[in-house]
Amino acid sequence: MEANITFILAPLHGITNYHFRNCLHRHVGEIDVAVTPFLAAQELAKLNVRKWPDIQPTNNTGMTIIPQLMGNEPRQMTDTLKALSTLGYQQVNWNIGCPSAQVVRKQRGCGLMPHADKVEAVVAAASREVPECHFSVKMRTGWSNPAEGLEIIERLNPYPIDFIAIHPRLGVQEYNGTPDWELFGEMCERTRHRIVYSGDIVDLDSYLRFRACFPDVTDIMLGRGILRNIFLAEELTAGETLPLEVKRQRFADFYHDLIETLAEARGRQHILSLLKELWHYFATFYQLSPQELTNLLRITDIDEFERRTMEIAGKE
Ligand SMILES: Cc1cc2nc3c(=O)[nH]c(=O)nc-3n(C[C@H](O)[C@H](O)[C@H](O)COP(=O)(O)O)c2cc1C
Repeated sequence: MEANITFILAPLHGITNYHFRNCLHRHVGEIDVAVTPFLAAQELAKLNVRKWPDIQPTNNTGMTIIPQLMGNEPRQMTDTLKALSTLGYQQVNWNIGCPSAQVVRKQRGCGLMPHADKVEAVVAAASREVPECHFSVKMRTGWSNPAEGLEIIERLNPYPIDFIAIHPRLGVQEYNGTPDWELFGEMCERTRHRIVYSGDIVDLDSYLRFRACFPDVTDIMLGRGILRNIFLAEELTAGETLPLEVKRQRFADFYHDLIETLAEARGRQHILSLLKELWHYFATFYQLSPQELTNLLRITDIDEFERRTMEIAGKE
């Protein structure tokens, strides 16, 4: 039994919205904290955080959430941190790891990693102007060069950062290749901050290998692994996999709840694309063949898609 590990739901933009998080929380244990998908930091004049449904406290009564921001200007960041504090948030995460071309082009997300001065300026402003905020950073090892990540790690040492979440891939790799544990180890050695690990923890085997290499890292983000097996955190905590039949029954209940919740919030016609995105991952849980998944993704009618997927989940 692992008693002292905290599992955090990783932000997955377009997927881990509050509907998904709330459903997960209703059906699955051992994952009580989530970093939200990113929201754009804005200057005061353009800000209306009460219009951001994903982080309204009334929409988030299950998991504890840490709102995540994307931005590159100190003023935008500090204005948004202050606005978030009026909603009661004292923990906020900053995304400097997103590798999407659109984001990087604007020198946001991972596009900031070659610019340590800009990163430092934002962190310095946050700690100076909103000291009550527990500000954290989520980063990669660099955009195209690991020296960038190491530089940023060193630059952040003087500031009161809550934690640094590291997904140890370069931005140019996107999600290809394997996480660089050697570099991750070097970053851990050079920081004085709490480190949260993110990347490819998908089952007991990957988890135990990670724990053996990094026994001092006790905060672990689970992202795509949770989508492939929503019971992952429970299994990692228990140190064993749950019986397949139990998991399938519980998954069917979760999936049914998810469809109902999404349909009620967005209207049935508008949930098909999200469900299809999810089934890229759920297909692993149900061991669908590539052809079976392709057939599923070809369906254009939500009723048909629901019928077919509930059939796979064994609930029709
Ligand atoms: C579809 C998708 C969306 C993502 N959105 C975000 C995001 O909004 N903010 C962020 O910091 N990371 C985002 N990530 C990165 C994940 O949080 C995580 O760091 C990465 O997927 C590696 O962890 P995993 O292997 O456990 O998924 C995203 C990843 C994927 C695949």
